[in-house]
Parts: sequence; structure tokens; C-alpha cells
Amino acid sequence: MTALTREVFTAAVTAATLAPSMHNTQPWLFRRDGDTVEVYADTGRDLTVADPHHRAVRISCGAALLNLRLALTAHGHPMTVRLLPEPGRTDFLARLTPAVDRPATPLERELHAAIGLRHSNRDPYLDSPVSTEQRARLTHAAATERCWLQLVDDPAAVARIAAILRRANRRITDDPGYQVELAAWINHDPARRDGVPVRAGGPAPAAHELLPRRDFGGPAHPTGRDYQAEPLLAVLGAHGDLPGDQLRAGQALQRVLLTATVMGLSASMMSQPVDDEAARDELWRELHWQGSPHMLLRLGYGLPATASPRRPAADVILP
Ligand SMILES: Cc1cc2nc3c(=O)[nH]c(=O)nc-3n(C[C@H](O)[C@H](O)[C@H](O)COP(=O)(O)O)c2cc1C
Repeated sequence: MTALTREVFTAAVTAATLAPSMHNTQPWLFRRDGDTVEVYADTGRDLTVADPHHRAVRISCGAALLNLRLALTAHGHPMTVRLLPEPGRTDFLARLTPAVDRPATPLERELHAAIGLRHSNRDPYLDSPVSTEQRARLTHAAATERCWLQLVDDPAAVARIAAILRRANRRITDDPGYQVELAAWINHDPARRDGVPVRAGGPAPAAHELLPRRDFGGPAHPTGRDYQAEPLLAVLGAHGDLPGDQLRAGQALQRVLLTATVMGLSASMMSQPVDDEAARDELWRELHWQGSPHMLLRLGYGLPATASPRRPAADVILP
């Protein structure tokens, strides 16, 4: 195998930065040591109110790790990943070392090509249904990363999950500290490279909506296309809730999102029911599933979504 060049490493880091992260904090850092690549959490970007236990940091860094793996493989550097979160060392998350040389598979190439096309889509979706075959590909994507995805469109089950989400959202938004923290991550400045731009954050949440969304300061929802009365939801989870499980869940989340992108589907994330301890327990009981829920998703066909900015690779590469 050829040596990992700075150009290829930088291209892979650029792909990694396109991963989703809570409030678009981009809480990741990367280091190259010869042919080895290390992934760190950027502890300076912690959300102390919304994410006190760093669950969202690890999910976000897991998603970035999947992009990194796909990009390195696509550039001829398949890697073996060792997940390294340790109780005393919360920032060092993963080490990638060269694996046996092999070409990227057609699926890896397809997922890699989708990295720059994926954006959260918080607008209403069209009524076109997601087919059985597409659903199978989405659940298979989560299983590939040793996680699970449970799709929910039975109206009664959707209503129960929506009620859990509403209770969690109320508890979270009642905290003035949460509002102050969220406001700091709403991006009103076209030159700023992180945070959620108002134009990407979707319309202002309305009280009558089934699924409460985070309020990123968007304009009132225009009359016309409304949010679906019976959306397709998906709960993504891992077999446990240790830091390693959360990193695995992040990789699975990104594989599901990229698979959706490849199939022309839109997705948005709602993490309130996993950010809130009580809601996570309720969600777990609702699913009758072995393991721990780590993200709630809404899936469907949408109109093109707005990209959110990213910090350049140079800002997230450690010397
Ligand atoms: C752990 C995690 C939690 C998230 N929670 C929410 C959420 O509750 N509501 C929401 O609209 N987006 C949520 N997102 C999506 C991020 O806001 C989004 O990824 C970020 O703004 C970057 O935009 P992009 O996904 O379009 O690249 C979450 C993403 C992650 C990884």
C-alpha cells in the first residue's frame, strides 16, 4: 500500500467534517501519525446544558469517523478502526491503522459520493411512500455497523413516540440555560463556519405540529405544504449505552443517512427523546427492543435542503 499523503489525509478530514453534529458544533479533531489516523473530541465545543454527558459529541464523532473511513477507503487506504473511549480519557476516541489492501466496493464508492450531498432537511416532506425495499436497505445499513434501526409508521405508535418527544422537548426547552446555549449556536453571520444558519433550521415550530422541532429562529411556516400527519419515523440504537456504543451508533447513523441520500430520501434528526434521561427510558419501553436508543429520525421525500457551513480541514487537524 502507498503511504498516506497529506493531501489524501486532508481530503478524508474534509469528508469527515461534513458529518452531522448537534447544533453543528463540529466537535472533532484529527491527527495523522505516519499512516495512522487518530480521532479526538474537541472538548472546547461541549454543549454543557444540552449534552452534559457528551453523548451527542460521541454520536457526532462516530458519524465523522464513518465519513473518514469511507473517504480513506475510496482513496485506496482501507483502515482498521479501534474505538478507544476510556473513562479517564474522554477526548481520545478512535485510532485507524492500515488494513489489508483492497479496492473500495461499489457500495463504499456510492456512500462516499453521497457525503457532500447529505443535508438535514427540516421542512415538510411529500406524501410519496418509502418502499419496502428502501426500508430494508436502511435497516441493513444500521446492522452493518452492529446497531439497529426500527422504522415506525403505525399511526398509534407514531402518536406514542410523538408524545414522548413532546414531553422531552418541554422539559428541555423549559430550561433557560438551554435557550441561551442554543441561541449561541444559531448562525446569523454568513462568514461563520459553524452553528445552524437560520435558513437551514426549518420554519419556526408551531404548537399544533405532531413532532416538536428545535427552534433555530426560522420564519413562520408558510401556508401550503404542511408537515405530514403520518410521518415515517425511525429510532436508531446500539446494543448498549457505553461510550463505544455511542461511537458505533454515530457510525450507524451516518451510514443510514448516506444510504437515505443515495436513495433520494431526506432525513432530519430529533435528539430530544435521547438527550432527556426520562424520555430515553420511555422510548426504550415503547420499542420493546434490546439495547439503547440513540437517535430519532424522520424520513421521506423532500425538496432540496440547505447546506450548513463547516470549518475547514486546517482548523480541525492537530499538529
Ligand atoms: C447528536 C445529534 C443530535 C442532533 N439533534 C438534532 C435535533 O434535535 N434537531 C435538529 O433539527 N437537528 C439535530 N441534529 C442535526 C444537526 O443540527 C445537523 O447535523 C447540523 O446542524 C449540521 O447540518 P447538516 O446535517 O445539514 O449537515 C442533530 C445531529 C446530531 C449528530
